[in-house]
Amino acid sequence: MKVLLINGSPHKNGCTYTALSEVSKALNNNNVESEILHIGMKPIQGCIACRKCYETGKCAFADELYNNLFEKVKEADGIIVGSPVYYAGPNGSLCALLDRLFYSASYLMKNKPAAAVVSCRRGGASAAFDRLNKYFTINQMPVVSSQYWNSIHGNTPEEAKQDLEGLQIMRTLGNNMAWMLKTTKNSKEELPQQEARIGTNFIR
Ligand SMILES: Cc1cc2nc3c(=O)[nH]c(=O)nc-3n(C[C@H](O)[C@H](O)[C@H](O)COP(=O)(O)O)c2cc1C
Repeated sequence: MKVLLINGSPHKNGCTYTALSEVSKALNNNNVESEILHIGMKPIQGCIACRKCYETGKCAFADELYNNLFEKVKEADGIIVGSPVYYAGPNGSLCALLDRLFYSASYLMKNKPAAAVVSCRRGGASAAFDRLNKYFTINQMPVVSSQYWNSIHGNTPEEAKQDLEGLQIMRTLGNNMAWMLKTTKNSKEELPQQEARIGTNFIR
């Protein structure tokens, strides 16, 4: 079993990474593999609503980051998305990437347990956390929770490491994710039956 953790900060080893690393350690302690994927610092293309992905199941912008993420998400049993808080929301570059990933390849992630993690200096964590959770809850992904909303506080990794409650929240999240993965993997229950999808663009 493997969990993919996406570091949606431009800082490879910043506060978001500090939080994700703590989740990662807890996963590993439960014999669940983990990998942290950094989105990097290059500009990231957003979705242009061309809808080519309806035909191909992949985004028309086949850049290296998207392709890499696509393959990793396919292999992963669980997904955790981490982001710094920017103006009370997730990093815009991360959202650009997630918009394209979820619009084109939601089928790869459906039914996989997921969680969001956010890092901020002071405020806006819960709004950013809510925004990230929207990707999972529109896509039938069981959301794994912790003992509090998953945030860590600090402007530098050194400060984040002083947020002992934040670090504990991350460990609890890792333990709960491992438990969820093992429980669902060992279950003999079939996935829920799906009705044919109804799409009403407005109420008539
Ligand atoms: C453009 C920008 C906007 C920010 N907005 C907020 C904010 O709304 N609330 C907050 O507490 N911190 C804000 N911060 C601080 C970061 O969220 C904080 O330093 C975070 O822990 C950095 O994580 P990282 O080291 O993983 O990049 C902002 C930082 C930047 C660069």
